[in-house]
Amino acid sequence: MTSTVAVLFQPLGRRGQVPAGISVLEAARRLGVGLSGVCGGRGACGTCRVVISPDDRDALSPVSDPERERLGEEEIAGGVRLACRAFIQRALQVFVPPESLTASQRTQVEGRQTPVRIDPVVVPADLHLSPPTLSDLRSDAERIRDGLGRPVRVDLEVLRHSPPSLRGWDWATRAVLRGDEVVALLPPGTPLIGVAVDLGTTKLAGYLLNLETGETLASAGAMNPQLAYGEDVMVRITYALQEPEGAERLRWAAADGLARLVVDLCNQAGLQPEHIVEAVVVGNTAMHHLYLGLPVRPLGLAPYVPVESAPLDVRAREVGLPLAPGAMVHLLPNVAGFVGADHVAALLATRMDEADRPTLLLDIGTNTEICLAVGGNLFSCSAASGPALEGAHIRFGMRAAPGAVERVRIIEGRVYCETVEGAPPVGICGSGVLDAVAELRSAGFLNGRGGWMDTDCPPLLSGDNGPEFVLVPAESSGLGRAITISRKDIGEIQLAKAAIAAGWQILLEEAGIRESDLARVLVAGAFGTYIDIGHAIAIGLLPRLPLDRFEQVGNVAGTGARMALLSRAERERAARLARRVRYVELTVHPSFRERFAQALRL
Ligand code: FES
Repeated sequence: MTSTVAVLFQPLGRRGQVPAGISVLEAARRLGVGLSGVCGGRGACGTCRVVISPDDRDALSPVSDPERERLGEEEIAGGVRLACRAFIQRALQVFVPPESLTASQRTQVEGRQTPVRIDPVVVPADLHLSPPTLSDLRSDAERIRDGLGRPVRVDLEVLRHSPPSLRGWDWATRAVLRGDEVVALLPPGTPLIGVAVDLGTTKLAGYLLNLETGETLASAGAMNPQLAYGEDVMVRITYALQEPEGAERLRWAAADGLARLVVDLCNQAGLQPEHIVEAVVVGNTAMHHLYLGLPVRPLGLAPYVPVESAPLDVRAREVGLPLAPGAMVHLLPNVAGFVGADHVAALLATRMDEADRPTLLLDIGTNTEICLAVGGNLFSCSAASGPALEGAHIRFGMRAAPGAVERVRIIEGRVYCETVEGAPPVGICGSGVLDAVAELRSAGFLNGRGGWMDTDCPPLLSGDNGPEFVLVPAESSGLGRAITISRKDIGEIQLAKAAIAAGWQILLEEAGIRESDLARVLVAGAFGTYIDIGHAIAIGLLPRLPLDRFEQVGNVAGTGARMALLSRAERERAARLARRVRYVELTVHPSFRERFAQALRL
């Protein structure tokens, strides 16, 4: 009988018994861990890298020849193994780095967490009030003030709801105070709940938090309904300016998206939206303005100034959020027209203000916000990277949903693809296109300008717009036709990566340091979490530095929003951070054109 051994996969916390002698990759599959394995376990692609701690190294078979070929000496010394070539001999713990996880599981591993002291702006007070009698004719509000023992205001909407609530709860209630105002009366024993939202150009990410314990009760994502009015910020600003009621439609779309997200979060956690007593929303400056109904004309015209950049507190009901009657929404500060509160939240979460060595943060999305911390200074810019990295503008592009090709390897002329959730391929997501471009370049199919090399290798077929590279042949595709990469797709990736590369290069220039001086590079955002860092370096999207200087930190804008929800000190810190940032406008920078043109090369 085969003996079984216990295996624990971290940071997912997935554990189980597997037969001794199977590979780590096979164990991952049996335990439902989405570990990548593009070449199907032949030891050829290197995508199944895992890390084993020194205590557990002899729990696996000795390092094999394919591993010596694919991994450097340094990696082997650091405990890195190829999961498909490492066979389990006894119980062990396996660390799966984010880049080795399939997309569906990477979304489950949240953005990097930064500890905060819990000190929310809202505080509860449990009251047991006496009911009115003929000899006690005080008003409801008077009773609440007397119960609290201090003169507070009660929000008008709270007053409107108070008579049935107080009487229905037999005069026991959990009053929620924000400064000197009562913003909610909750049923006795209700936990203090808040919601944090990252209002992205393409996606919304929301988190429901217990404000007393800091626990995240639910998290959810959704597409931004404003996508119906244009993919990028400039198109939406133009729509708001040119269409009658355009701005109003965009405002309503954002409000509707947020309201639905809140309902979704509450359904997940078994809570009710009207019990949420505080919210924090972060987004880029255009999203912030469109959501609040602020005029966006100043953002659409040089010199692109915001209407407001200070932190704001607005009533949730004024911005269409169905929370507790008097709940407020806090909006973190903006920095400039194209560097908004989401960037400030990312700086907060990554503690960029405390960086003691040169550190670069790239939050990659439709707009890529970049910050360089050097010697106590923070330089930030925004690069118009466009939606190609999220799969848009790519012929077979799609978001990272089941069936999206997310990893590509070309080994000895053969193409290996891996899809999200291993579903039959139906398209390519941003990380897949990036992988494909890098692999095509290194396999000699592309020249440095992104054009096809003269080759009669079979994967190139003649398409409507010239030769196209067949990533998935028709017979293996879930679409019933081949999934290909065209010259135009490659051009889209070149434009996106040139915008990003020109951005970080100009920040280095402004700070007077070289690429090699960078001690850490933090890569954030959904796309940033999925990409293969080695490939991103190879095509020049990221600085040419050793891999161990990079860290994929996930949705740090969302983390920053949560921190600001839990702590008033973090809100104050965010306001200070926004004032400290030195904003660099790329479009008028004297080096921009030249750097952009150079960065187009692969
Ligand atoms: Fe292990 Fe490819 S699956 S190297």
